Amino acid sequence: MHFLETAVEIARESGALVANYHQRHIPFETKGEFDLVTEADRASERLIVERLRSHFPAHAIVAEEGGGHESASEYRWFIDPLDGTTNFAHSFPMFCISMGLERAGELVAGVVYDPIRGELFTAERGAGAFLNHHRIHVSGTPRVSDSLASTGFPSRKRHHNINIHFYYQLAMASHGVRRTGSAALDLAFVAAGRLDFFWEFGLKPWDMAAGVLLVAEAGGRVTDMKGTPLSVTASDHLLADNATLHKEILAAFGDIFRGTLRVPLPAI
Ligand code: IPD
Ligand code: CA
Ligand code: CA
Repeated sequence: MHFLETAVEIARESGALVANYHQRHIPFETKGEFDLVTEADRASERLIVERLRSHFPAHAIVAEEGGGHESASEYRWFIDPLDGTTNFAHSFPMFCISMGLERAGELVAGVVYDPIRGELFTAERGAGAFLNHHRIHVSGTPRVSDSLASTGFPSRKRHHNINIHFYYQLAMASHGVRRTGSAALDLAFVAAGRLDFFWEFGLKPWDMAAGVLLVAEAGGRVTDMKGTPLSVTASDHLLADNATLHKEILAAFGDIFRGTLRVPLPAI
């Protein structure tokens, strides 16, 4: 499918641009109270939107920094021109470009590109998931007690985020819960079997679209945190895992949503 090949070409080009800004240690600005944004986010988005427009003028584009456009097309791109901006702004080398494509509401192609490690994660509906053109699969980890997980905390209203309860319970139950700062890479890492599961509240469609398809095509399972089928445009939270762990994680989350903490928070 030429959509994926074109997206790969564009993600590589924008990855090179972002990597170049990374070497120059550019300053950051704040949008709202906490959210950081840099010239790299904007330049990457301009490049991606311009290229997509010239290849697929009819397609709709939803892009984080607002450069997209609506259309009546059944094709819609979800673009995160730089996922992991806080990392990027502090020269912490964990960020990527994420491009997901849906057709008539169904995800059909996804690209996550990490320009620092030169890792290109790709997926097409029904054709599997790949890392640098090698097929990838989710892990075979059978129990949460043997697993490594990841989660995220949005910078917006971060002080009110209930995820700290989920973080603590799952950290106590597993080998650990990472916080990478890039949801798209978290999802790609679940697809590649480097993480057994990932969850987060309040993600946006551009954070999730490509990664959700990667996980599904790598044999994993993606729903919301209550087990309801995921909608990248409407769900309030997401759980992506290796499929084997799905039931066990949902049971743990169910307890936490009900306020039953298996491990009480320690007193200070
Ligand atoms: C953020 C990252 C982070 C996640 C936040 C996202 P951005 O995206 O994916 O890991 O925890 O919820 O907003 O702002 O760096 O594109
Ligand atoms: Ca993002
Ligand atoms: Ca972003």
